Amino acid sequence: MTTKVTIDRFADREQLSLAAADALASVGTDAIRSRGRFVVALAGGHTPRRLYETLTKPEYRPKLDWGRAEFFWGDERCVAPDHEDSNYRMAREILLEPLRINPAKIHRMQAERPDLEAAADDYAAEIAACYDVTTNAPPPRFDLVLLGLGEDGHTASLFPYTRALVVTDRWIVANELIELSINRMTMTFPLINRARTIFFLVPGSAKGHALANAFGDSNDIARYPSRGVHPRGGQVRWFIDGDAAARLTT
Ligand code: 6PG
Repeated sequence: MTTKVTIDRFADREQLSLAAADALASVGTDAIRSRGRFVVALAGGHTPRRLYETLTKPEYRPKLDWGRAEFFWGDERCVAPDHEDSNYRMAREILLEPLRINPAKIHRMQAERPDLEAAADDYAAEIAACYDVTTNAPPPRFDLVLLGLGEDGHTASLFPYTRALVVTDRWIVANELIELSINRMTMTFPLINRARTIFFLVPGSAKGHALANAFGDSNDIARYPSRGVHPRGGQVRWFIDGDAAARLTT
């Protein structure tokens, strides 16, 4: 099975975010029409903020039946849910509360727990329950996974040369950035690569080097983790802006 890849270049972060909002509404509406619901994994960091703000605007909000959406996260920092660095807090404040999403449909990674591996296993079990399967089953298919791209080429919390990159038998793991002495919780490639659709949101010149390597010749996933994202039978849509694209030769 092949992976469909598209690259759309936009003038700037704002135009990128507007296009991604339309595309998300379209993917979500298709999912609801086909399967009765829309299961999405949100990205963290700074980039998705404008996308999330856009989705709550009066002209965008009606584009999707938000009551049929289930919200998960692709990764989380090991901080309390009200911490300023929390990916959950960011999405809750900018997207989920303004859209009045039913808390039962918001599935937060409990990455603040001292036993991070147990928390990761519990999150995988929560995903499994949402699909009425067990975690021994093949990974379920998210309708959409939102991803960013770090300047070092990481995506979600799949950082270069970290153990999470080679996990094949789990959907969610703890991942330690030894040199930075920080821990994260993250989706693994087996789960990400079952997604029907993946959006990479990559604006800004700071991402130029990582983006060029993402499309480069090397298949060195350890060095460039975003290259490990190729959902068989799914599609990857890159949303990039002119600044990020400056180093691309294509
Ligand atoms: C996180 C994200 C991470 C992010 C990239 C890009 O928890 O930070 O999941 O993978 O997408 O680091 O971050 P920015 O959007 O802040 O540039």
